[in-house]
Amino acid sequence: MVPSSLIPAIHTIAVDPIWPISLLVATFGIHLLLMNIALGGTFIVAWHSLSGGSKISRDLSGKLPTILALVINAGVPPLLFVKAVYAQFNYTSSVLMAVFWLAAVGALLIGYYALYYHYYRYDSMKDGGRKGLIFMVLCILLYVGFMLTNNMTLMLRPDHWIEYFQNPNGLVLNLNDSALMPRYLHFMVSALAVGGLFVAILGKMKSDQDYIKTGSKWFVRATIVNIGVGLWFLMALPRDIMLIFMGRDMFATVLLGIGMVGTLGLIHAGMKRNVVLSSVFTVIMVYVMIIMRHLLRKAYLSPYFKVEDIPVTGQYSPLYLFLISLVIGIIGIAYMLKLMFKAGRS
Ligand code: HEM
Repeated sequence: MVPSSLIPAIHTIAVDPIWPISLLVATFGIHLLLMNIALGGTFIVAWHSLSGGSKISRDLSGKLPTILALVINAGVPPLLFVKAVYAQFNYTSSVLMAVFWLAAVGALLIGYYALYYHYYRYDSMKDGGRKGLIFMVLCILLYVGFMLTNNMTLMLRPDHWIEYFQNPNGLVLNLNDSALMPRYLHFMVSALAVGGLFVAILGKMKSDQDYIKTGSKWFVRATIVNIGVGLWFLMALPRDIMLIFMGRDMFATVLLGIGMVGTLGLIHAGMKRNVVLSSVFTVIMVYVMIIMRHLLRKAYLSPYFKVEDIPVTGQYSPLYLFLISLVIGIIGIAYMLKLMFKAGRS
């Protein structure tokens, strides 16, 4: 069977695709940074719980429910933009893995509630219960992340959709893709680094050297490990696609170069325990990686689809409404966070 025959017909789009794609990149960065703090922070709390917990893990566990809520909210805009531009690919992959995909929603709800429970019962719970609960949340977040990587890679591989004919029950995953595991681990190890950075940022705000030292350690070690994982990911890509980062596409190659040099900058800033510089480098690097990820998606889909092929209807009013809502939403969230910090419940 020819894989392209499985791709649903192309849709129209209201505005030039450059708009939703730019907004996808911009909003995905926010989702990713927050997700990294939530997942990395949960890992650090779970890790510290093995040695009986610490002041840092208690403090961090109080921040996690709010951060997870923000992760979920910040995931919605990129989800809508992915659906707007890549509808025929992303809806199909979501349907193929529907059982795992829908289960992620239920799992997240349980994880979210469990994080609240973990914090509010931190002192009254027995040590075993506290450990069990935080490890359960960690497993849930790892599961959700794994499903997202599955979905975001399955949508790029119409040649893998054929598996549906052997497995039509919504249980198809992209497990036979050699790039799946390194891609997933690349995201998870970054989460550890950014989770560590968040601890260091808390330390900077409190002028607490213990926080800065612990956070910077996680940040530096995870970043060093991620050099290996990142190279594994690059090597695991199909050869034709990998070559876009090796000179075939100058922009992609320059980005990879910036990524490599930037990683050394991250490690240096982390080792010096310079929290501000580490944070600035991290935000820049996350966006460099997101643009590389976008070029990767473009390369994967190039045999089947180009965004330029989507017919544009030229109805700009929904976009204006979205931009106005976005600004109002950001102001609203900033105001709520301000109230929360003021009330001392952060
Ligand atoms: C806390 C739980 C979550 C974790 C751990 C998580 C993790 C991830 C990871 C690892 C990726 C990258 C996947 C890849 O490209 O290989 C990702 C992408 C994405 N996530 Fe999340 N996520 C979470 C919650 C959510 C929620 C609740 C939504 C939607 C409401 C969401 C929306 C998205 C979207 C749309 C993308 C892809 C964006 C794009 O392709 O440019 N995520 N997430």
